[in-house]
Amino acid sequence: MTLAALNSPIALTEPQLSIIGQQRLEGELHVNGAKNSALVLMAASVLSNEPICLHNMPDLTDIGTMAKILVSLGVGFRLQGASALLNGGGLIRHNPSYELTRKLRASFFLIGPLLARHGVAQVPLPGGCRIGSRPVREHNKSLRAMGAKVTIENGVVSAVVEGNHGRLQGCAIHLDCPSVGATETVMMAATLAEGDTVIRNAAQEPEVADLAGLLQGMGARIRGAGSSTIHISGVRELHGADYEVVPDRVEAGTFLIAAAATRSRLHIHPVIPHHLGAVLAKLEEVGCNIRQHGQGITITPGALQGCELCTKPFPGFPTDLQAPFMALLATAEGDSVVTENIFENRLQHVPELQRMGAQIHTHGNVAFLKGVARLSGAPVTGTDLRASAAMVIAGLAADGVTQVAGLDHLDRGYTRLEERLQAVGARISRISSAQPTLLAA
Ligand code: EPZ
Repeated sequence: MTLAALNSPIALTEPQLSIIGQQRLEGELHVNGAKNSALVLMAASVLSNEPICLHNMPDLTDIGTMAKILVSLGVGFRLQGASALLNGGGLIRHNPSYELTRKLRASFFLIGPLLARHGVAQVPLPGGCRIGSRPVREHNKSLRAMGAKVTIENGVVSAVVEGNHGRLQGCAIHLDCPSVGATETVMMAATLAEGDTVIRNAAQEPEVADLAGLLQGMGARIRGAGSSTIHISGVRELHGADYEVVPDRVEAGTFLIAAAATRSRLHIHPVIPHHLGAVLAKLEEVGCNIRQHGQGITITPGALQGCELCTKPFPGFPTDLQAPFMALLATAEGDSVVTENIFENRLQHVPELQRMGAQIHTHGNVAFLKGVARLSGAPVTGTDLRASAAMVIAGLAADGVTQVAGLDHLDRGYTRLEERLQAVGARISRISSAQPTLLAA
């Protein structure tokens, strides 16, 4: 192929984001409702035969998929702007299809409320994904302890409560690991169980506390959510509720990291500071000034230094911001060491950053970086949701043009990201497959 042919317009096989980097950003970015809260709050609608209304819902593909799953079970669903009306009164099925559930890890959390409501559930195993095997041992083990017979056949987890008139039995549960999904699944199941349940070594992520807030609004008796020990006293039934989804701490963190990576002064709002404690501390450590005022944060980056970063369960540094933060460290002064302790395969973004000139080598779950003055734009692919966000951040900081593929991942967790970044000055656009594009635009 001649050089000239390389520069001829080519039709893209999939939509991509095209970014011209080295552009300072300026202004305010609004943070949407939390994806990882909204999804589990939607699942909780199954627990009641009365409608619940969720406000501040994010407009994401994952939300649409969860809505399809719930509607397939008979749950009523209506979206009015950023509010979702869900009615579990119509629940008639307990076996969501693999076709839908395979797209969404959170769909597996439905096994708890389905079992609690009607004593039966058949939910396909969520399967692994690029970041890890994503087991559900803790979820199944806990439901067995509560009196369910749980079997796994042909990739489907079948659970049924055979005794006790089909009602789960509260008990003491000690999770082997502070799994967010297992904590949420058990908490939902326990709200309608007979007697008391205590969950020890529970996940402390803010989304767990947000779910407890909705359940309490529905009449559940829960205390300790957000700590490592949660007590639930079962009730006979739950009523409807009106509830606002918490701001997305991962989206807020992504915006803060993008500001740091582009050396931009930005205002991010709304943010609940203690949801991002470890991230704010790390941004200050590498050289950013962080000013909190009410539910807003203004970040002013200085000369950035490398650091050591270890992901941990909340309140430690969140695994979901490890890839975005690594994109920042790629151009911070000096050495950095990033250790991914939560998922066994969440360094897939390293080869993509290397394509842009990042100096990184890995050993097991540890990445060793030597900061470079500047990344260079290149065609790259986001391999999962947060790796895609990392590639956008790297493109914003890089010299030249970066094309980011893998938008099906990105759109699962960030609503119209390019439009929102354009509004603060980024030179970024979404190129559809219909539009020819030049490799070196
Ligand atoms: C939730 O996933 C989030 N997803 C993830 O966000 C997030 O990364 C994760 O929590 C950790 O904070 C949703 O809430 C929908 P886990 P979840 O069970 O519940 C191991 C994103 O990008 N484990 O807390 O599936 C597991 O292998 C997504 O928004 C077991 O070993 O995560 C993993 O290493 C990605 N056995 C660790 O625990 C089990 O039975 C954390 O998993 C269950 C989990």
